[in-house]
Order: sequence, then C-alpha cells, then structure tokens
Amino acid sequence: MYSQLVNNVKIRQFDQKDTEVVIQLANDFAFFDGPTTEEDLKITHAFPEGFLVAEEDRKVVGLVYGYFRDVPKEVLDNWGVSKVATIELLVVNPKYRKHGIGTSLVDSLIGIFKKAGVDMIGLTCPEGASHAKRLYENHGFEISAYHMRKKLD
Ligand SMILES: CC(C)(COP(=O)(O)OP(=O)(O)OC[C@H]1O[C@@H](n2cnc3c(N)ncnc32)[C@H](O)[C@@H]1OP(=O)(O)O)[C@@H](O)C(=O)NCCC(=O)NCCS
Repeated sequence: MYSQLVNNVKIRQFDQKDTEVVIQLANDFAFFDGPTTEEDLKITHAFPEGFLVAEEDRKVVGLVYGYFRDVPKEVLDNWGVSKVATIELLVVNPKYRKHGIGTSLVDSLIGIFKKAGVDMIGLTCPEGASHAKRLYENHGFEISAYHMRKKLD
C-alpha cells in the first residue's frame, strides 16, 4: 500500500476512517457545484490506489484522486498514447497550503500512474481555481480545450 514521507507530511492511500474529514475537506474547500457525500466517494472504488491523502501531525489535510479512463483504441492511436488517466479531485486545507503538499500529492499520483503504464493524464480545472491551474502548469499540463456548459430551462 502506498505510503511516503515528504517533509514531515505523510502521503498515503485513503482509508475508510478518513471518510468524514475527506468529505469535509471537499465540501469546505473544493470547487464543486453541490455537496460531496459518502455516495460520491464510491467513484474512488474504481481505483483505490489512486485515492491519496496527505497527513500532517496525524491530521488529514489534503487529498487527491485519479483513475484510469476508458478510451477506445482508435482514439488512443490518434492521440499517440496507450493508457490515459484523469485527476478528478485535489484539495488542501487552506491552513496548510503553500508548503508543497498539493505538489507532493500530485507527484505521488503521477508516480502511481506511471508505474501502471499511463502515458497521458487529462483533467478539468474549474475556472476559478487559479492555484490549481498554476500547480498543474508547473507540472507541465497544458490547456487543450475549454470545457463549456449551459443550463437548459
Ligand atoms: C490547488 C491546491 C491543492 C494547492 O495546494 P498547495 O498545498 O498550496 O500546493 P503547493 O504548496 O504544492 O503549491 C502552491 C504554491 O505554493 C508554493 N510553495 C510550495 N512549497 C512552498 C514552500 N515550502 N514555501 C513557500 N511556497 C511554497 C508553490 O510554488 C506554489 O506557488 P504558486 O501557486 O504561487 O505557483 C490548493 O490551493 C487548493 O486546495 N485549492 C482549492 C481546491 C482546488 O482548486 N482544487 C483543484 C480543482 S478540483
């Protein structure tokens, strides 16, 4: 099971006992349209190895989740890649930001993806999430499209 210590911060796989604090972090500090519930966390069952938390002084202060995307072979060939993953959620408690925790979480997840043979990662970054955008750009992510939407009456 993944566990690594980076500058006194433990990056480890999510455990059931983290559920409450993870939901609270997502609800209080992530850019989502609606509240996150235990039901929403079921998406992480698809790839539990890609659900990591950051723990400082035995307190969970951040999390990241990513999983493999099911992309048709013709599309993969078009893109010139063999395995694609996505980063779904990234959040760090504001009191613990700017200490490299978000970077460590993303680095760890990318390492896990690489070991699994992933050669492309895609993600959606909310319009207002400027810190996340910068963090991803620092990791070499580039904008490839604009995600647009419209509510119908
Ligand atoms: C995006 C987010 C996860 C970043 O977390 P973080 O722990 O602050 O990330 P890092 O510390 O690795 O990097 C953030 C900044 O701190 C700086 N930093 C990193 N280590 C540092 C250190 N030891 N001392 C000072 N600054 C440092 C980085 O250079 C970076 O600077 P920049 O944003 O000015 O380029 C956090 O801002 C967040 O939770 N945002 C809200 C949720 C969100 O937008 N999620 C993404 C969409 S789902």
